[in-house]
Amino acid sequence: MNILCTGGAGYVGSACLRWLLRHGHEAIAYDDLSAGNAEAVPDGRLIVGDILNGGQLTDVMAQHHVDAVMHFAAVASVPESISDPDLYYRVNVLGTKNVLDAMRRTGVNRIVFSSTAATYGFDNPMPLTEDADQLPETPYGTTKLAAERMIADYARAYDFGYAWLRYFNASGADLDGQFGEDRDHETHLIPIIFQVVNAHREKLMIYGGTFDTRDGTCVRDYVHTDDLGQAHQRVIEALKPGDGRAYNLGSGTGATVMEVLRAAENVVGHPIAHEIVDPRPGDPAVLIAGSDRIRSDLGWDPQHSDVETIVASAWRWHQQCPDGYASKPEAAAGKSG
Ligand code: UFG
Repeated sequence: MNILCTGGAGYVGSACLRWLLRHGHEAIAYDDLSAGNAEAVPDGRLIVGDILNGGQLTDVMAQHHVDAVMHFAAVASVPESISDPDLYYRVNVLGTKNVLDAMRRTGVNRIVFSSTAATYGFDNPMPLTEDADQLPETPYGTTKLAAERMIADYARAYDFGYAWLRYFNASGADLDGQFGEDRDHETHLIPIIFQVVNAHREKLMIYGGTFDTRDGTCVRDYVHTDDLGQAHQRVIEALKPGDGRAYNLGSGTGATVMEVLRAAENVVGHPIAHEIVDPRPGDPAVLIAGSDRIRSDLGWDPQHSDVETIVASAWRWHQQCPDGYASKPEAAAGKSG
């Protein structure tokens, strides 16, 4: 299948794109590189473009004879969405509308959408099922939920097939340590822990130590990017025009911030400096995915989503490339040439 991955140079988008290429599909990335890395995309597979440019999107879908879209492109920081909702509505809502309009114009009728646990309300029982109340508590969650609904409305009217994939905490790196997380302004737990190990930060600030959890720190459900890749492959291979599917993607177990830190200390072999500080606005105490639906519908079988494997793979990446993609020889060659 010929798959266009918007946001295909981003952390999750590029991991899924590489997975698709390894599993018998054709895939190209459409990415404005505002948060993505060209080095994360195999040679010849990147088209630099913005989802806010509907004309370019339409041309790309037509020229590349696209069969299906995986729509990863988004802005995805909860705190930033609180301070800059304008950006979030523009990229996540208007950008999604552009993707859908380009699909209509070019006759592409299948879309897999990167949604999030942040579309659920905080008061649902854990683990969250796909039928839990969607009452997002942040602009990020609201814009992702709006995009979900828009996709369903288009699908009904124009006979698309769609799947909403609600990620929990996407994490880890390719198992050979060659590709991983690299953002300009990192906010995520695991890369921050390894920035401390690599002496790029003084210590990890743990946001909150008095939550109602087993050690007082927040519980999250960490899911490895290769397992997300497997899920995207299974979904797109099953998706037919007229289908509407919603799946949670998580391991089904939770780890506390302290447990992730201890796993990282075990991998690096020494203590990692940290301090407990006030909670971060918008952080729920516990988020755990119920992913039984995709396991039983499509046989999804996550292989790498235990915390030890996630942290070990992330460490291989941060050890080999302490400055992210800028550490890679081909990136350095590209920049000097
Ligand atoms: N954390 C710290 N210190 C840090 C960074 C994170 O203690 O420096 C904690 C957070 O408070 C949280 C856990 O580590 O309890 C994980 O935090 P991340 O920032 O790595 O991930 P989030 O759970 O905040 O974010 C994820 C997704 C988002 C999504 C959000 C929904 O990455 O896209 O869940 O709540 F919006």
